[in-house]
Amino acid sequence: MDEARLVAAAVEARRRAYAPYSGFAVGAALLSTGGKLFTGCNVENASYGLTVCAERVALFKAVSEGVREFAAIAVACGDSPCSPCGACRQALYEFAPNLKVILADGEGRRWEALPLSSLLPKGFGPADLAGG
Ligand code: THU
Repeated sequence: MDEARLVAAAVEARRRAYAPYSGFAVGAALLSTGGKLFTGCNVENASYGLTVCAERVALFKAVSEGVREFAAIAVACGDSPCSPCGACRQALYEFAPNLKVILADGEGRRWEALPLSSLLPKGFGPADLAGG
């Protein structure tokens, strides 16, 4: 799947965001290495801290469906592209330290792609636990 289609899926998912408190809608589209697509949107809560980001919704949907290997994720938000929060970087790193991350604006008009390793250099992952 090319970048444009992945971005389009993230833009579509963004329309389903439940963000009445922040007003900031985010969509994500996560592509497995086997070609399956999992989408997510941010889901907020009146108890604010329970909010889950779009990226983790997509990731947890995939993992709960038995899929653990990923090639790329597109994230769509706002007037200009934004970058996954630290918690989402760590959650993605667990399964895909070499993931391609595509940062898009909320309408999918422009985007940039970069490796997760550049967003989370020297990340802590499952392999590190082996050395304990
Ligand atoms: N949000 C995401 O869904 N993904 C990110 O990477 C950054 C932040 C959501 C969480 C919250 O619902 C809203 O954006 C404002 O922080």
